[in-house]
Amino acid sequence: MSEIILDVRNLTHHFGIGKKLSVKALDNVSFAVKKGEIFGLVGESGSGKSTVARCVMNILKPTSGEIFCEGINVLNPKEFKKNKKQLEASRQLIFQDSASSLNGRMTVREIVSEPMKIHKVKPPRGTFDAEAEFQLFYVGLDKSLLDKYPTELSGGMRQRVAIARALTMEPRLLVADEPISSLDVSVQAQIINLFAHLRCEHNCSILFIAHDLSVVRYLCDRVGVMCKGKLVELAPVEKLFASPRHPYTKALLSSIPIPDPRLERERVMEKFDYDPKLLSGKLREVSEEHFVLWGDEE
Ligand SMILES: Nc1ncnc2c1ncn2[C@@H]1O[C@H](COP(=O)(O)OP(=O)(O)OP(=O)(O)O)[C@@H](O)[C@H]1O
Ligand SMILES: [Mg+2]
Repeated sequence: MSEIILDVRNLTHHFGIGKKLSVKALDNVSFAVKKGEIFGLVGESGSGKSTVARCVMNILKPTSGEIFCEGINVLNPKEFKKNKKQLEASRQLIFQDSASSLNGRMTVREIVSEPMKIHKVKPPRGTFDAEAEFQLFYVGLDKSLLDKYPTELSGGMRQRVAIARALTMEPRLLVADEPISSLDVSVQAQIINLFAHLRCEHNCSILFIAHDLSVVRYLCDRVGVMCKGKLVELAPVEKLFASPRHPYTKALLSSIPIPDPRLERERVMEKFDYDPKLLSGKLREVSEEHFVLWGDEE
């Protein structure tokens, strides 16, 4: 059996709004990410994807459920505290607006080297400078930027510096929440290939959250589809695209434009009517490794 890096079990989260109301952002979500796998999470805006990412990174404490990272129960305060340093080194987060969290008083060189210094990691390429230069090259930035401050860079460059910073630690689990939405299309392709390289060459596991389904199809090994806080379908990527089973997944996939103008004219968009029955029940295996949320009554 392949090794599990991230195991999310029955994750439920309610955001309290005011005294009496709450938003059910996650409802009993379970999935696992294997070693060296890119696992995609897709779904419409507000379906709960970022809430999953924030729970996995211990930024948010879920209402209930369990999360294991490399076997560590990260929601157990004692176990978390004991393994905090290891988790900080092996688990990294990149989000859409990572650029905004860069320290404006540090140069790019200092920003990229900082995690290695904090965690007393010996730079694999000899010196911190050589390492920073290498990581910048990796994300397609020139070494002439090393002595610049974030304010001197464009938004896309800052985001790439944030990605380089996360990658210096050679994480075993990378949580990437729409990491490339703020980048130009040409740069997006480069970063996508970088993620593919990390998986192949460094056996890095990635939880990849994205809106762009064509990117998910290209990059991910397995995909989970979320709708209103529920995981409605989970399958290897090609199975999901070839034979989606849940009505929500069918509607989501039918919204992908087809590059061929003739086929695009004939494309039929499927509609999904929110019916509580379609969002209840349990995930059931319909074919090997293909799970669909199935109402209780059937
Ligand atoms: N801090 C908060 N307080 C109250 N409700 C919140 C909070 N953060 C998120 N929510 C709600 O939780 C639900 C899930 O939000 P989440 O941000 O996880 O969705 P998402 O799938 O990441 O959406 P997007 O694709 O737009 O990033 C939404 O209904 C959202 O309004
Ligand atoms: Mg989000």
